[in-house]
Amino acid sequence: MGQGLRIAVLKERANGEHRVSATPETVKKFIALGASVAVEAGAGLSASIADADYAAAGAEVCADPVQGATIVLGVQGPDPDALKGAAAGAWIVAGLDPFGQRARVDGYAAAGLEALAMEFMPRITRAQSMDILSSQSNLSGYKAVIEAANAYGRAFPMMMTAAGTVSAARCFIMGVGVAGLQAIATARRLGAQVSATDVRAATREQIQSLGAKPIFVESVAGIEGEGAGGYATEMSEEYQKAQAELVSGHIAKQDIVITTALIPGRPAPRLISDAQIASMKPGSVIFDLAVAQGGNVEGSQPDQTVVRHGVKIIGWSNTPSHLAADASALFSRNLY
Ligand code: NAI
Repeated sequence: MGQGLRIAVLKERANGEHRVSATPETVKKFIALGASVAVEAGAGLSASIADADYAAAGAEVCADPVQGATIVLGVQGPDPDALKGAAAGAWIVAGLDPFGQRARVDGYAAAGLEALAMEFMPRITRAQSMDILSSQSNLSGYKAVIEAANAYGRAFPMMMTAAGTVSAARCFIMGVGVAGLQAIATARRLGAQVSATDVRAATREQIQSLGAKPIFVESVAGIEGEGAGGYATEMSEEYQKAQAELVSGHIAKQDIVITTALIPGRPAPRLISDAQIASMKPGSVIFDLAVAQGGNVEGSQPDQTVVRHGVKIIGWSNTPSHLAADASALFSRNLY
């Protein structure tokens, strides 16, 4: 990194966003490479990082870090107006949500900025250290299980006590990407009986290797469910019908369901209908990790706990932000 690079770290403006795009650790590393770093005052507070910690790492803490910046870091994309004063051709590097925030991305182009949407990083081994989707989804999968366990009026592990036996919770994970794998691992650690499903056949072994039971459509042949880059594709009508039947039978016996299914650039697939919710026992909990992309679960609402047929349905619009300190540390290393 050449001399003269000036890196700005913005305080996030979006509602409910508690993460920050650099930590004292990454600030030090940037400075060691010859850059100067300006951090907006208060940028780290909601992730438990004080201004003084940034200053101690060598950053300049100020009200308007963008002035003269050649690289601007963010967790989410800032309003293009907030980038006035950046050097010509400066980079804006953040999770820019290019599918959802097209106008904002166009605004960066109009201002002559170079916009790097971190979610477009290729999902290849070599780029893993820069993969914000993985670093944040992993934490989301963990937190979804913790929150569901908290909302559940029973215990996760089986307990044999003098007063009788408490049976283990049955936990079903739908969608076994990065978040789903961590959800399986977390639910297992808490002692639940865990099962999981995905449209990608390759996940069957991954589910088994974590000690959970795979629930898969067997009757529809020749479907791998995997498209470009290891992502899911939209499934045929025949497959969707077979999947719905299988899931209906299984879901009625579950206490906790975590849904994580996403298809890049498209609305989240609907995995659980109101009728399926009605088949679950009262007191069961569903956490819909896809709620911000339209939801996997009928009736789920961002940042609300909806109760339907006695089942609690939870979904947060920004789950990693609920673990802001860890999420920021990983996100910052991805950007570095
Ligand atoms: P994602 O967040 O796009 O989707 C989550 C999961 O939902 C996926 O496993 C997907 O197959 C599943 N899904 C979609 N529609 C579904 C449906 N109708 N029913 C059930 N499940 C459904 O996925 P994520 O976590 O971003 O991972 C995508 C792929 O990228 C995976 O194959 C993952 O292993 C791979 N990956 C590879 C990396 C690498 O460096 N090699 C790094 C990170 C991810």
